[in-house]
Amino acid sequence: MKRVKVAVVGVGNNISALVQGIALHRATGSLVGIHRPVLDGLAVGDIDFVAAFATSPEKIGTDLTEAIFLPPNNFPRLLSELPPTGTGVRRGLTDASQADRVAGELGDAEVLLYAAPSGRPETAHAYAEAALRAGAAFINTTSDAVARDPQLLSRFAAAGLPLLGDDLTSQFGTSVVHHALLNLLAERGITLVSSYQVNLGGTEDFRNLVENSNTKLQSKLNALTADGTAADRVQVAPLGYLSQLKSQKVAHINIEAQAWGETSVSLDVKLKVHDPSGAAGVTIDLIRMAASALRQGRAGYLADAAPLLKSPPGSAI
Ligand SMILES: NC(=O)c1ccc[n+]([C@@H]2O[C@H](COP(=O)([O-])OP(=O)(O)OC[C@H]3O[C@@H](n4cnc5c(N)ncnc54)[C@H](O)[C@@H]3O)[C@@H](O)[C@H]2O)c1
Repeated sequence: MKRVKVAVVGVGNNISALVQGIALHRATGSLVGIHRPVLDGLAVGDIDFVAAFATSPEKIGTDLTEAIFLPPNNFPRLLSELPPTGTGVRRGLTDASQADRVAGELGDAEVLLYAAPSGRPETAHAYAEAALRAGAAFINTTSDAVARDPQLLSRFAAAGLPLLGDDLTSQFGTSVVHHALLNLLAERGITLVSSYQVNLGGTEDFRNLVENSNTKLQSKLNALTADGTAADRVQVAPLGYLSQLKSQKVAHINIEAQAWGETSVSLDVKLKVHDPSGAAGVTIDLIRMAASALRQGRAGYLADAAPLLKSPPGSAI
């Protein structure tokens, strides 16, 4: 099977976890934390990064494998030595007029992976335009509405290009754990009274989302309430930034419920994970789904990607 050529936008913590995780797997053969070693005939090690875009002057011009360690990135180093990708980081776009330039620099990338900060829908749309012009599939890992924009989705479908989004559901993050617990209540006939989640983290993503959480909180609610769970009884607290947590996220989930005879049930869960790992563990599958669909002529939204996304098309904006 031909290897997948991927271009990345935003050389932040998630790209660091993705690039390093693939390198670790190649170097050691470790399958720890890998959900699907092979997906549609594509192995985890079959991904090549052929272009990368950033806005930070320190990252532009360096090899992708150097740029991922520059501050404010704080995901840990997984291997003492990382072979250079040979892919130099290029200047990203800052307004829509630069979409043509970026399209020209995508080369023969099959997939454009968008991993810039959430809360900048114009930037997300401009990069989606670049992917359309270059004939690449687009993955939106941010909570901004791209795949939820019906016009954009139909333009990707008409162009024969997959569009996957919006917003990742981390491999084992607050959304999946909270969702599973709420489902368990329903499965066992327990009545939900109220529930909330609190998320604290020390990454640049958290720092950005504390200041600019407009699209993220709705997206987190979408992940919990899509299948009819009472949205009025589930709350997501505003995110909190604590620099000392670095790339770790600490989440607290509370559930208050009622059981037989209207007696009370109370559940509190604390989850601690490396947030960028949760993103990379899912992104590795989205990349292979997008490439495989592109090669098979499947365009627009891919239903198989839905479980990996918080806000697929049709969910609230
Ligand atoms: N578990 C998770 O970590 C998780 C889950 C779901 C969604 N997400 C989303 O994934 C995205 C990436 O997360 P992250 O932790 O890597 O964020 P990050 O802040 O570490 O990285 C984003 C990078 O994009 C760069 N950037 C900003 N504007 C740009 C532009 N115009 N062009 C190119 N680069 C630009 C920033 O300088 C930064 O280096 C975020 O939007 C986040 O909300 C993350």
